[in-house]
Amino acid sequence: MRASHIMKIPVPPESVAIPLAEPLLLGNETAYVLECLQSNRISTSGPMVTRFEHALEERLGARWAVATVSGTAALHVALLAVGVRPGAEVVMPRISFVAPANAVRYCSAWPVFTDIDSAHWQWDLAQVREFLDRGCERTPSGLRNLRSGRPVGALLAVHLLGGLCDLDAMFELAREFGLPVVEDAAQACGARYRGRPIGASAGGRVPSLAIVSFNANKIVTSGGGGAILTNDPALARRCRHLTTVAKLAGPGFVHDEVGFNYRLPSLAAALGLAQLEQLDAFLARKRAIASRYAALLGPVPSIRFRVSPEWEEPNHWLCTVLVDGDAAPVVAALQASGIEARPIWTPLHRLPAFAGCLCAGAAGGFVDRFYRGALSLPSGCGLSDACIQTVAGALVRALAPRETARGCHGLGR
Ligand SMILES: Cc1ncc(COP(=O)(O)O)c(C=O)c1O
Repeated sequence: MRASHIMKIPVPPESVAIPLAEPLLLGNETAYVLECLQSNRISTSGPMVTRFEHALEERLGARWAVATVSGTAALHVALLAVGVRPGAEVVMPRISFVAPANAVRYCSAWPVFTDIDSAHWQWDLAQVREFLDRGCERTPSGLRNLRSGRPVGALLAVHLLGGLCDLDAMFELAREFGLPVVEDAAQACGARYRGRPIGASAGGRVPSLAIVSFNANKIVTSGGGGAILTNDPALARRCRHLTTVAKLAGPGFVHDEVGFNYRLPSLAAALGLAQLEQLDAFLARKRAIASRYAALLGPVPSIRFRVSPEWEEPNHWLCTVLVDGDAAPVVAALQASGIEARPIWTPLHRLPAFAGCLCAGAAGGFVDRFYRGALSLPSGCGLSDACIQTVAGALVRALAPRETARGCHGLGR
């Protein structure tokens, strides 16, 4: 894919009055970091990392959590642990932050990109089924992509923007086609599927793992970090081993395979633990921010919100809207007034880094419309109601010419 296919994106101003999503450090962050410093336990092993992992297990509903240095590292190891081999293909959505596609390539495997659906803005599982059903054949050694001839190694479900794809439908596909699953819940910490927390499904029905990210714009942050979640003891052991340079227990340095130095340091775990304690408050604030935006912007005809499906309780990580036409000038107008609005990610199949990777399904599709028209609004837990009002007002002003072109005057439908 040529770089010219990539939309011109405005450069954000150096300092912004209303940031996209800043961390809110109002709990035990300082106390827990001090505890590490005063006990001289700052490395990747130690009680703070264990405490954070146990808190994650309890809060996110998985029997095991393995804390990692980033969500990307968690993805890399999760894909290896479920058995993704060099040359295999991993089926995943066409749009997301780049990390999951990178992680597939770290395994020397190949992403196969599929669309998201136009209502929920989540992975289009009907298209995944179509690909597995008609684009692949079953062979004695597993599923094979008819077009590329490569084996299909796994499903990589990326939950987008704080919402969730339909996990029951996705696990049913995985079971039917004999595929392991990695759930990328980097953006979805605290979200619930049919009442269950995000770590509850992983490792139950087919070999599967979920990952979360704690980078600085996530609902819970450790500055940088991630975790692998599962209910499968063998997968949990494997992930712990791979993230700890594959060192065998006992004295001396015996490494039984090439492993990774991917464990989370204690200082980051201290921040993460303090943040996790505030997750309920963060979820409540994000919910309130989303409702406020919906109340202010819902009546504007040229703005669309995603429809939250009945299976999810989202964490409302980012308030993303779809506008009529092109989002780029709207993002530029907001940024010019000090509002850190953000364009949506470039679809992965349009990135030079993934030139040559296959897309399942027809060209175009909803992703292209989404890419052109979607933008994310400031959504940090520290955002005041007055700031939400300012952002909404600026967005309405930026869209005013489109409203006039539609024949709409004022906010009423
Ligand atoms: C969908 C998705 N996956 C993976 C990651 C990677 O997480 P990290 O930044 O912790 O490496 C991110 C980060 O934003 C993400 O949005």
